[in-house]
Amino acid sequence: MGHSDIKLDNLWLPFTPNKDFHQSPRVFTGADGMYFTTADGSKVLDGVSSLWCVGAGHNRREINEAIYKQLQTLDYSTAFQFGNDRAFEAAQMIAALSPGDLNKVFFCTSGSEAADTAMKMALAYHRARGQGQRGVFIGRERGYHGVGFGGMSVGGIGGNRKLFGSAMLPHVDHLRFIHDPVNHAYINSELPVFAEDWLLELEQRLLPLHDPSNVAAIIVEPVAGSAGWYLPPKGYLQRLREICDKHGILLIFDEVITGFGRMGKPFAADYFGVVPDMLNFAKCVTNGVVPMGGVVCRAHVHDAIMSVPTPAHVIEFSHGYTYSGHPVACAAAVATMKLLADEKLFERAAAMGPVLGNAVHAAIKGLPHVISIRALGLAAAVELSPSDKGVGARGYAVFLECLKHGVLVRSAGDNLVLAPAYVVEKPQIEQMVDVLAQAIKRVA
Ligand SMILES: Cc1ncc(COP(=O)(O)O)c(C=O)c1O
Repeated sequence: MGHSDIKLDNLWLPFTPNKDFHQSPRVFTGADGMYFTTADGSKVLDGVSSLWCVGAGHNRREINEAIYKQLQTLDYSTAFQFGNDRAFEAAQMIAALSPGDLNKVFFCTSGSEAADTAMKMALAYHRARGQGQRGVFIGRERGYHGVGFGGMSVGGIGGNRKLFGSAMLPHVDHLRFIHDPVNHAYINSELPVFAEDWLLELEQRLLPLHDPSNVAAIIVEPVAGSAGWYLPPKGYLQRLREICDKHGILLIFDEVITGFGRMGKPFAADYFGVVPDMLNFAKCVTNGVVPMGGVVCRAHVHDAIMSVPTPAHVIEFSHGYTYSGHPVACAAAVATMKLLADEKLFERAAAMGPVLGNAVHAAIKGLPHVISIRALGLAAAVELSPSDKGVGARGYAVFLECLKHGVLVRSAGDNLVLAPAYVVEKPQIEQMVDVLAQAIKRVA
């Protein structure tokens, strides 16, 4: 089968320039290990774990078999008023892996749903404690928390707000973005130390403006992933935790990208040594194989909501999804977590991170239009200056050029991101970096 045999008419692709796609379709038909097969039979090296999802690599027998076994045992069961054994097992494993007393797991199906779930938990928590006035949420510029109206409102991605900004949630504000392109354009496996106190604006401007007693929660990605792998300055997350504690504000980490190993630890919370009140996850929890998301919250959040006196038939937290704790997704999650542990894949991600960071800096720093390179954990971003065709045009051209030469990279505006599966080998890192470097030279 070639690309020309595929009927393109009926599928509307997400986050894709559909008109351009139809000029030159890109269709995958298979995947194994680090590679895709395309409709015309060529191989593509997956440099981004397929949207940061496939931490353990593609087509893992252990996960496939667990899914098949689950399908033959309990394919689906109602998510409301009942649990299923696999959901309890997955929740127990996630709680055991999570730092501090993050130990109550609420399942959903995606990172977007996780954002809305965490925000609703924050509102329910404050109301249970007699502080129902706390309805302000603070996100961060260029933060990404998915595409639901809650997540999009606390998010700060201009492109996502362009069409829908008129219907965003009220009572939302944003921290300023974390990037110093002048003094810290090049970062290789070490957090930048900013001369300025980056959170002074929160203490001196945002909190007094809204009054801290009205703020429900602050939500951030520990590392800004979708924007293009931007790293917080040293001490930033610790200080954010302290400010939240001082004012009774809940802290939510969106770890949809950083969770389950990307930082060489189970979570970025472990990497940075900061425990949030709620932690959102998705993607690598099932190796991307079956959609799953969720929020793991600290005992005090859950317990406050449960402590409201209610009759036996009344639901304490009116929220949930048909597919919350889907047995097949939970079987995939259990098998994925076993695989991550058995193969020591967090340690492997930690070991391969500097290999990637060093390779990218050595081969790409100084190439035309390169204005920043940031590497931490097993991910690296190369930022190019925008061309006169507009923001994102150069990044998109480099993405297409890499694909032509057999490597999938991710373009986020004019950032090119590499975030391979944790099982990546050094020669594969060298290949993806070399293809990216050549593409940057050709497209420039
Ligand atoms: C930090 C973060 N939150 C939320 C989401 C949204 O996840 P989903 O696409 O599964 O809704 C993403 C997706 O990339 C993400 O990176």
